[in-house]
Amino acid sequence: MKVLVTGGAGYIGSVVAAQLIAAGHEVTVLDDLSTGYADAVPAGATFVKGTLRDCAAEVLADGSEAVLHFAANSLVGESVANPAKYWSNNLGGTVALLEAMREIGIRTIVFSSTAAVYGEPERTPIEETDPTRPTSPYGASKLAVDTTLTEFARLYGFGAVSLRYFNVAGAQRAADGTWLGERHNPETHLIPTILASVTAGRRVEIFGGDYPTPDGTCVRDYIHVTDLAGAHLRSLEACRPGQHRIYNLGNGAGFSVREVVDVCAEVTGTAIGTDVTARRAGDPAVLVASSARIQAELGWQASRDLRAMAADAWEFTRVRGAR
Ligand code: UFG
Repeated sequence: MKVLVTGGAGYIGSVVAAQLIAAGHEVTVLDDLSTGYADAVPAGATFVKGTLRDCAAEVLADGSEAVLHFAANSLVGESVANPAKYWSNNLGGTVALLEAMREIGIRTIVFSSTAAVYGEPERTPIEETDPTRPTSPYGASKLAVDTTLTEFARLYGFGAVSLRYFNVAGAQRAADGTWLGERHNPETHLIPTILASVTAGRRVEIFGGDYPTPDGTCVRDYIHVTDLAGAHLRSLEACRPGQHRIYNLGNGAGFSVREVVDVCAEVTGTAIGTDVTARRAGDPAVLVASSARIQAELGWQASRDLRAMAADAWEFTRVRGAR
């Protein structure tokens, strides 16, 4: 199938693009490189640099049959400081993409949504039917896209799937040997931050040690980017005209910040010093997904554990450091 991957120069988009190519699909990547990297676009993909607003219609006219949509701003803190950017790029950019798809007659889309749509959960594991009360403009903008997709399915017969990711981690080696992994700037995510501290010989800051969790630190549901990407390929096959499906993607198990530090220490063979500092604003104590729905409906299940995520992210860090 010929597919457009928006945001395919980013962390998750590049891994999905690589898996699509490996599965025999023809891939075009559209990315404005505001946060992505041209050298992360996997070999074999056609790359177009540009925004959704300016370029989606033109790029889609090349015969694409489906869209995997990752292009977005995704920093919670930045979204609180600059909400308009998030509404404009995440919702406005997506509406431009959907309108271009509608005009050309492409109606199949898999969308990169987020656990942030749920906000502070009432219970865990979180199910797709639980209340959506985002606590940041980032989460709200992604939820607005989910709602738009429901409408486009109902009104225009789009076949859409929204995948609500929990904490994505790890890296993947592409067919040509290149490692694809997290290269955020600034990096705020826990595992790459810990690994960067190991490389630099720094201590790790733990944001809050007084949460109502077994060791007082926040608990998250980590999912390997390779498993996550696999769910996108299955979802692409599962798109049906007139249907918008929503699936959580996680491992179904929670790990505390301290447990993640311990796994990273094991994988890197380095003792990691930690300092407990103040809580980070907006962090819920526990976020764990129920992925029962996607397992039941699409037969997808995560298969890589936290150790594999830390080990692959460490390999990626070392390969990049050596360049
Ligand atoms: N943490 C630290 N020290 C650090 C970095 C993170 O203690 O240096 C803690 C955080 O406070 C949090 C946990 O590690 O408790 C995980 O933090 P991340 O930043 O890696 O991930 P988040 O859980 O904050 O973010 C994830 C997704 C976001 C999504 C959010 C929803 O990455 O896209 O969940 O809450 F919006």
